[in-house]
Amino acid sequence: MYSQFVDTGVERMRCAEELPELERAFQDKIDSDIKIEPKDWMPEAYRQTLVRQISQHAHSEIVGMLPEGNWLTRAPSLRRKLILLAKVQDEAGHGLYLYSAAETLGASREALIEALHAGKAKYSSIFNYPTLSWADVGAIGWLVDGAALINQIPLCRCSYGPYARAMVRICKEESFHQRQGYEIMLALCAGSAVQKRMAQDALDRWWWPSLMMFGPPDAESIHTQQAMRWKIKRHTNDELRQKFVDQSVPQADYLELTLPDPALKRNEQTGHYDFGAIDWSEFWSVLKGDGPCNRQRIATRRQAYDEGRWVREAALAYGAKQDRRRAEFS
Ligand code: 3HC
Repeated sequence: MYSQFVDTGVERMRCAEELPELERAFQDKIDSDIKIEPKDWMPEAYRQTLVRQISQHAHSEIVGMLPEGNWLTRAPSLRRKLILLAKVQDEAGHGLYLYSAAETLGASREALIEALHAGKAKYSSIFNYPTLSWADVGAIGWLVDGAALINQIPLCRCSYGPYARAMVRICKEESFHQRQGYEIMLALCAGSAVQKRMAQDALDRWWWPSLMMFGPPDAESIHTQQAMRWKIKRHTNDELRQKFVDQSVPQADYLELTLPDPALKRNEQTGHYDFGAIDWSEFWSVLKGDGPCNRQRIATRRQAYDEGRWVREAALAYGAKQDRRRAEFS
């Protein structure tokens, strides 16, 4: 006991002395684009930033199943239902890869999920809006998955290996999601006048919340600077938002839909589209838990978790039985 105490003290002193050296070596690795792996030394703040971002991302994928899940039983055809079912299942898979990536940093999955259910952990603001018509499924695929893709492709080059590798697969699937959404919008826009109106109405409601997905303006983004120094983030929130606007304008034109922003205009000098002011008070209010569906989303997740308890218990009991059998025959 005594020797352990002494050892720990010495170790602590050695670490404190070596900290600047360790931090320098860590930053050198980052600057040389060498991935950080779970067993590598890392500053505690880097670890915490990753756990925060990856777990928020995982929660977003899981809560993100709910708005579209709402239309699974009402999809307009068997083909649409199969595609939507596959997409919603993909989101569940993304959540699971991401929880696993957070676990490589020493986080406990149970604790992360508890924080979500207690309303302490964040998830993407976008999933607190309702899906009122089938066209919303199209708008979500086109805009929400499209925005997620623009945000997440750079994460494939994130400095933390397990997160970067999870993102490669996730982005391949998100790209299919974006296309299926745009294809729904194409079908609606080529359909009857009522269908076209549904598509326009969905675009009107999802456009501004999609722009908010990229996070607060750079001047108010508390994490961006450090996250970019660590190459967790590769672009700022505003850079990615602008990319999304520039990509979406010709897509909306092709659909012959109107983006709900009278200030939207191509700026010949910058080559980008200027756009109107975002209502940031709405964004902060959704983050505080006061969006149209926040309470409903968390209540649904809690209920699903409680109702799935027997499945988790059965899986653990089965695993324990297999372990006992292996021990008996070895
Ligand atoms: N919704 C909820 N919270 C948000 C948010 C949003 N759209 N944007 C920012 N925030 C929060 C941040 O989490 C942070 O809160 P915290 O300090 O309590 O953690 C605060 O607002 C300040 O924002 P910052 O810009 O300083 O935070 P970040 O540097 O972390 O940037 C981010 C925010 C761009 C969302 C970044 O975390 C990120 O790229 N995350 C990974 C991707 C992700 O989580 N995407 C969510 C959508 S996933 C999805 O859409 C599923 C798909 O299937 C459609």
